[in-house]
Amino acid sequence: MSEPVIKCENVYKIFGANAEKMLKDSNGNVDAKTFQENGCIVGVNNASFEVSKGEMLVVMGLSGSGKSTLLRCISRLTDATGGKIFIEGQDLLQLNNKDLIDLRRNKMGMVFQSFALLPHKTVVENIAFPLQIKGVKTEDSINKAMDMVKLVGLDGRENYFPRELSGGQQQRVGIARSLAVEPDIWFLDEPFSALDPLIRKEMQDEFLRLQEKLQKTIMFITHDFDEALKLADRIAIMKDGIIEQLDTPANIVLNPATEYVRKFTEEVPREKVLLIEDVMDNTKDNLGDLKVSKDEIIENVAEKILTQEKSVAVVDDNNNIIGSINPAKIINTVFGGRKNNN
Ligand SMILES: Nc1ncnc2c1ncn2[C@@H]1O[C@H](COP(=O)(O)OP(=O)(O)OP(=O)(O)O)[C@@H](O)[C@H]1O
Ligand SMILES: [Mg+2]
Repeated sequence: MSEPVIKCENVYKIFGANAEKMLKDSNGNVDAKTFQENGCIVGVNNASFEVSKGEMLVVMGLSGSGKSTLLRCISRLTDATGGKIFIEGQDLLQLNNKDLIDLRRNKMGMVFQSFALLPHKTVVENIAFPLQIKGVKTEDSINKAMDMVKLVGLDGRENYFPRELSGGQQQRVGIARSLAVEPDIWFLDEPFSALDPLIRKEMQDEFLRLQEKLQKTIMFITHDFDEALKLADRIAIMKDGIIEQLDTPANIVLNPATEYVRKFTEEVPREKVLLIEDVMDNTKDNLGDLKVSKDEIIENVAEKILTQEKSVAVVDDNNNIIGSINPAKIINTVFGGRKNNN
């Protein structure tokens, strides 16, 4: 397997005057409560994970769980208190200022939770600005920026200043500015949170379409579990700075590792998340004529399966039968296993 694009090893971020000393004394066993009693706030607690090329890792968790802090450590907007972070094998904490600026300018893109627009530049100037810093000619940068303005649905507003825009519109400028650069590694901190549901859904769809084409390596923060399920290759769920579970959406829904994770999954319509493959049986006996692909989302084939008398064959990409699924299993998946249903 190729080298991960992002790799974190035992990353800690602790705020407070004594942070480094306390982390050292703790031998890595950081108890948030003890630290707090000693004037330190634990932002990220022993995070280890990898993100591979083209993967979208979505980071979830309640407010204050450490999502933004984790992202800020990896983009080195803040220095981790402990641990190692590698970007394409390069030790991030060893980079000098020049290399760090190069990395940020040419490889990394960021969309901030707080928009971070330049107040004295117009919409189109804001979007074109990072391109100009990279050395793109003014005219080309404005053309590219105008494409992005259209993409995020702000045409007609390109000459407005940020203060003349709503929160959601400012957020779209931030997304457009980041998109314009086409970074290899993309950090997005709740990029769609200020958008109306309808525009939000459109942006998600557009984002997925772009990602299919561009195959960027992405870390995406959201509060919204439905958004996470829709976008993620894998989801990391954080609580009090700790990554409680990092897994595929299906595994998180099927096997939540902790009570906190289970709470997130409670309301999820499983048939919208799980694939046939996730719930099929291995038996291949007594099958009817109908076949379904292992990669179908349950919702899309449930009705077909529910009208069958016999078990339905599940096939792989080569049309080989790899298992089966029966109506009872579908009903169990949709209605079973929820808290109020047993
Ligand atoms: N500069 C700072 N100084 C002290 N504590 C901080 C600082 N930045 C963050 N924290 C603390 O670290 C913890 C994690 O904050 P963080 O901003 O990462 O949370 P979050 O998961 O992004 O929350 P939200 O969903 O509200 O954006 C919080 O307890 C926060 O108060
Ligand atoms: Mg945050």
